Amino acid sequence: MGMVDGKVCLVTGGASNPGLGHAIAHKLAAEGAIVVVTDVDAEGAATTAAEIVAAGGQAEAWEQDVTDEAGWDSTLAQIQTQHGRLDALINNAGIAILKTLPELTLADYNRQMLVNMTSVFLGTQKAVAVMRETGVKGSIINMSSVAALVGVPACSAYAAAKGGVIGFTKTIAAETAAEGIRCNTIHPGLIDTNMQRQSSVDNPEEYVKLNAAVPMGYMGPPQTIADAALFLVSDLSTYMTGAQMVIDGGLINQ
Ligand SMILES: NC(=O)c1ccc[n+]([C@@H]2O[C@H](COP(=O)([O-])OP(=O)(O)OC[C@H]3O[C@@H](n4cnc5c(N)ncnc54)[C@H](O)[C@@H]3O)[C@@H](O)[C@H]2O)c1
Repeated sequence: MGMVDGKVCLVTGGASNPGLGHAIAHKLAAEGAIVVVTDVDAEGAATTAAEIVAAGGQAEAWEQDVTDEAGWDSTLAQIQTQHGRLDALINNAGIAILKTLPELTLADYNRQMLVNMTSVFLGTQKAVAVMRETGVKGSIINMSSVAALVGVPACSAYAAAKGGVIGFTKTIAAETAAEGIRCNTIHPGLIDTNMQRQSSVDNPEEYVKLNAAVPMGYMGPPQTIADAALFLVSDLSTYMTGAQMVIDGGLINQ
């Protein structure tokens, strides 16, 4: 018996490997969930779903741009048609535009907010509507970052978006708690994914400094975040909402 048997879970940004959505999708499926993996990278999402199915799990993959409202409507309508319910939404898709203040353009800033913050609003609003309509006490997980909690150079737009995700999540948690719908944030530190590998190229000095500062001495594997997501989707966390889970090897514990 798995920890999330039969729960229908939508994981956005599940194509990248190594990536957090990829690891979360695998973990939830291994614990019995029916996983819908979406991404702008349709081929990558399909690969993730195929890996899950090959391992004996239940998954399907659809193309979705999380910044597109109509795309959210069709994704959720398709989930309702096929599965009749949605138990969890993991708003994981994201990008990192890492530039210092003078380098950052308005277009960069707006793009960062659109992909990492506005998408979370769209997905949460529409998933909560589906959960309410079907009477499901669902779990919404919004991916924030330790960059929303401490200052990291060249992360201002990224941190603004991830900080916005915190306030948004807490407000929705307050609005939905009486219905048993839960909404929490996860705050990864430095986790070894394609995004971090790219940041080592974009922002090499800061990357080396941050890595050296991790008290546990190593960059976290994506599995550590997948374990937290599993907990938040599962019935082990039914009394937890509006909370911030920091998973960072002790990075901001100073
Ligand atoms: N890796 C880390 O150390 C770290 C730390 C803190 C927070 N995070 C957050 O965790 C989440 C996942 O990060 P990751 O490290 O796995 O990144 P990643 O770049 O490896 O994967 C991100 C995925 O999101 C997808 N994506 C990007 N824009 C999209 C869009 N508009 N619509 C749909 N999909 C889109 C990409 O195609 C990719 O598959 C992000 O929100 C990121 O900000 C990561």
